Amino acid sequence: MGFPISRLRRLRKNEKIRELVSDVHLDKSDLVYPVFVKEDLINEGKIASIPGQSYSPLSGVGRIAEKCETLGVHGLLLFGIPREKDVLGRKAYSDGGIVQKAIRLVKKKSDLVVFTDVCLCQYTTHGHCGVLTKDGVNNDRTLKLLAKIALSHARAGADFVAPSAMMDGQVKAIRDALDEEGFDDTGIMSYSKFASSFYGPFRDAVDSAPKRVKGLPYITDRSTYQMDFRSLSQAMREISLDIDEGADIVLIKPALPYLDVIKEARRRFNVPIAAYQVSGEYTMLKLAVERGLLDEKRSFLESLTSIKRSGASFIVTYAALDVARWLSAG
Ligand code: PBG
Repeated sequence: MGFPISRLRRLRKNEKIRELVSDVHLDKSDLVYPVFVKEDLINEGKIASIPGQSYSPLSGVGRIAEKCETLGVHGLLLFGIPREKDVLGRKAYSDGGIVQKAIRLVKKKSDLVVFTDVCLCQYTTHGHCGVLTKDGVNNDRTLKLLAKIALSHARAGADFVAPSAMMDGQVKAIRDALDEEGFDDTGIMSYSKFASSFYGPFRDAVDSAPKRVKGLPYITDRSTYQMDFRSLSQAMREISLDIDEGADIVLIKPALPYLDVIKEARRRFNVPIAAYQVSGEYTMLKLAVERGLLDEKRSFLESLTSIKRSGASFIVTYAALDVARWLSAG
């Protein structure tokens, strides 16, 4: 039935009505906060490339966990920034590594759900997410290292390890390693990750952009392992394989330029689909806010609600603490 019998403005008459009839509600429990723990840092230090975010020393991690609990944010995604890098990223799987220590601390001080990024790029001198050889990034040699990293995180108490290296077979390699050591309760959140320019501020922050190393080929980007953004079908195949290999949750990133991918994954698969509002997406909004061009609260709530509307079960975002505060204030 058309106008004048149908008048959609009846549903928009006031905020209470609009809220009652809305399809999606963003909630504090939808948010996961990424945390950068930096080895050898004494005091918190601002991250130049990601506005409003800071590196945390190990000693500051407890306070961040407490803040999340107070605000009603349920989960953290932990990234470690090691003091030393080497060609094989050995510090990534050391039981005494910075992220392993941070996991233990968060689990001791809080009931938060701890997710950990399982990758090599912050830990390798060449900045790639795997073992770099003269023939390129070697898939199967990388799997062994990813399994070691995941195990070290599980031993420290991680609830979900999140492999982000985009190697074929990484979920299976990790699931097998975890089960072999009795960590059948540790989950896997596998990244479905596009080769994207929106990771720029993050790579600057953790010094993980591909670099030139003597004796190794210089490969300037990650397009031989991260997904091509022109292909939805490949993304669906990647997700389907990850689920078959044992992924408990699938994390799609970036989020806002990829809502169609989130929506299609939600429609096709029966696992929780999470989304990562990555550093570039977050920083674009923050800079526009700084210039006085966007309203911070409204633009973030709109972007995150859209990500949820597309089908995301939860969202990893640098804005988690601010959003939780805004949502509490009503
Ligand atoms: C590591 C990793 C990256 C991000 C999360 N894990 C960077 C990359 O793939 O280069 C990006 C997160 C962000 O931009 O906020 N592989």
